[in-house]
Amino acid sequence: MTAEPLEIYLDESDLERGLRDDVRTGLSAGSKWLPPKWFYDARGSELFERITGLPEYYPTRAERAVLAEHAADVAALTGAKTLIELGSGSSEKTRLLLDAFTRRGGLGTFVPLDVSVSALRESTARIAADYPGLRVRGIVGDFTRHLHRLPTGGRRLVVFLGGTIGNLLPAERAAFLTAMRAALEVGDWLLLGTDLVKDPSVIVPAYDDAAGVTGEFNRNVLHVINRELGADFDPDAFAHVALWDPEQEWIEMRLRATRPMRVRVLGMTVDFAPGEELRTEVSAKFHPDGIAAELTEAGFARTAFWADPDTLFGVTLARAR
Ligand code: SAH
Ligand code: AVI
Repeated sequence: MTAEPLEIYLDESDLERGLRDDVRTGLSAGSKWLPPKWFYDARGSELFERITGLPEYYPTRAERAVLAEHAADVAALTGAKTLIELGSGSSEKTRLLLDAFTRRGGLGTFVPLDVSVSALRESTARIAADYPGLRVRGIVGDFTRHLHRLPTGGRRLVVFLGGTIGNLLPAERAAFLTAMRAALEVGDWLLLGTDLVKDPSVIVPAYDDAAGVTGEFNRNVLHVINRELGADFDPDAFAHVALWDPEQEWIEMRLRATRPMRVRVLGMTVDFAPGEELRTEVSAKFHPDGIAAELTEAGFARTAFWADPDTLFGVTLARAR
């Protein structure tokens, strides 16, 4: 079967408006920051895919190991008819779930949702070709804004993999889980991938790889702003920084100005002092009980928690109650 045409809830002008608002707010703040969703144009999505294969970047491998071990349990426990994936990217690991559902029978529709049109175009075409019995409905949308647009009816399983929930700030995360619960019916399911707290000597290299791919991914947000908003950032004049925050238990990516700079964007003049940093991403790490507590607070009940043999990454299956 071919994939259905993408459903677009976020068009070019919404994206540009969102980027403008975030750039205005984030670059005029006392401590400059930008939200991580702007990394993911076509080049950013490709760079992320390269990151997933880096020797230092353990989350993808560890989560894949969990899914390889437990995909059949997910299919049997949920008996889902519709599988929805948020922040789906390439949906590579999701194939383990699709394979398990195919063996079990009963799954009719796959609905990947992402802000990245390029990632969705590729993934939906490939998955539709490889799973001929499956209806594939890609949605271009923002998982912080468009959960009410998700298809309804039939037993649903929403999967949110990769640890992407950790890229939301704590208040955003609570709002996301509440909105997620509101979009589901009692008895629907959520499968949530979360990176786990561990020694920073393992975490930091995953965000500061020797080949410098993560640095390019980080700087990509400046290329996006230059192209979309006509800004004049010199991305190469910013150094990639990955910093573990032991209080918050998250790793931050920042871009550090290597010299004084004056950037023009949206009619604003944005000055960077030498050494000044712009925060581009937080990636929170979790404890299994903390995840369960946040899910309970939002109206879910945990059914299962699985980790890889090295306890690097956790996958929680929860049910809307
Ligand atoms: N789930 C995949 C990809 C993770 S990368 C994996 O586990 O490997 C994060 C993905 O989330 C990217 O594809 C990015 O485009 C998407 N994304 C980031 N912020 C988003 C948002 N607010 N709404 C929808 N998708 C988002
Ligand atoms: C998508 N997200 C879960 C990745 C992470 O690990 O926080 C994005 C990333 N940032 C740097 N490397 C990968």
